[in-house]
Amino acid sequence: MSIYGRSRVKVPASTANLGPGFDTLGMALSMYAWIEMEEAEETVIHLYGDEMKGLALDKSNLLYQVAQLVFAEAGVSVPELAISMYSEIPLTRGLGSSASAIVGGMAAANALIGSPLSDAVLFNMATKLEKHPDNVGASLFGGIITAIWDGEVADYVKLAPPSELEALVIIPEFELATTKARGVLPTEISVSDAVYNISRTSLLTAALASGRFDLIGKAMQDRLHQPYRAALVPGMEKLLAEAPQHGALGIALSGAGPTLLCLVDRREKRKDELEAFLVQTMADQGIPAQTCWLSLCTEGVTVELTGRNGMHNDSFLDMIKGELQS
Ligand code: HSE
Repeated sequence: MSIYGRSRVKVPASTANLGPGFDTLGMALSMYAWIEMEEAEETVIHLYGDEMKGLALDKSNLLYQVAQLVFAEAGVSVPELAISMYSEIPLTRGLGSSASAIVGGMAAANALIGSPLSDAVLFNMATKLEKHPDNVGASLFGGIITAIWDGEVADYVKLAPPSELEALVIIPEFELATTKARGVLPTEISVSDAVYNISRTSLLTAALASGRFDLIGKAMQDRLHQPYRAALVPGMEKLLAEAPQHGALGIALSGAGPTLLCLVDRREKRKDELEAFLVQTMADQGIPAQTCWLSLCTEGVTVELTGRNGMHNDSFLDMIKGELQS
């Protein structure tokens, strides 16, 4: 086995569920994390960016752990690693930060040893860790993902996001752990609620695939998780009910929250009005929050190998600076 220099990955954030598609629909968003990985004499982990504060810098770090899972699966040993990461994806806000770390760490480790594991294997491994395929699928493959998970194997279909669609997210300034947001969900639901969600998930997938923007608002309705999670996100009920009156095609809790995500037609004239409505609704609840316009990424994680041949020998931070300016 050879070690191929140094690997660098760029991995997108993601939203999950899109309303009714609980644990099945995911979508990649243009907010990113970058990871660099190489073999080292002694493990050293550098995490840059405000979002990374407080995370482990030893071998308990998630990036190190997922890299070792990849090496074990490939039957190779690379016990010591130098890892750097910069992320603009806020933690525990419903934008797939842990999925991006899992997918990015796995892709970087796999590239480092010559990419012996296929994307399908990485998807299964990442889903096993994350426990649902929606965020990891979107970060790995990009686009809009519809996925299933049987406990061992994840299957998916990727749809190209319609180019006229963009997303506006409102990110409240508080964290909400996925475990807490899953803890409030019922263990059983009625047949009528199941039918409500199945029909809307199918309609939403078909509407996104065929460009039927007129159906997005109705199709993003949910009875499986949002009503139960509303108590955890002040202002959420009003945002869900009223954002379409201010120019959103549809709105949903992003993953487990607390971020909310609006799908918006790029040609929409009321973008400022929509943004102001989101911020004001959160402010009325005493919650400071930031908005951010994002594109829907067609591409998932990208990997490049650098270092050994004298090409691309710029430092990790120089590379990030360049990326953030572009
Ligand atoms: N589908 C998951 C949930 C996404 O809603 O709990 C959270 O990571």
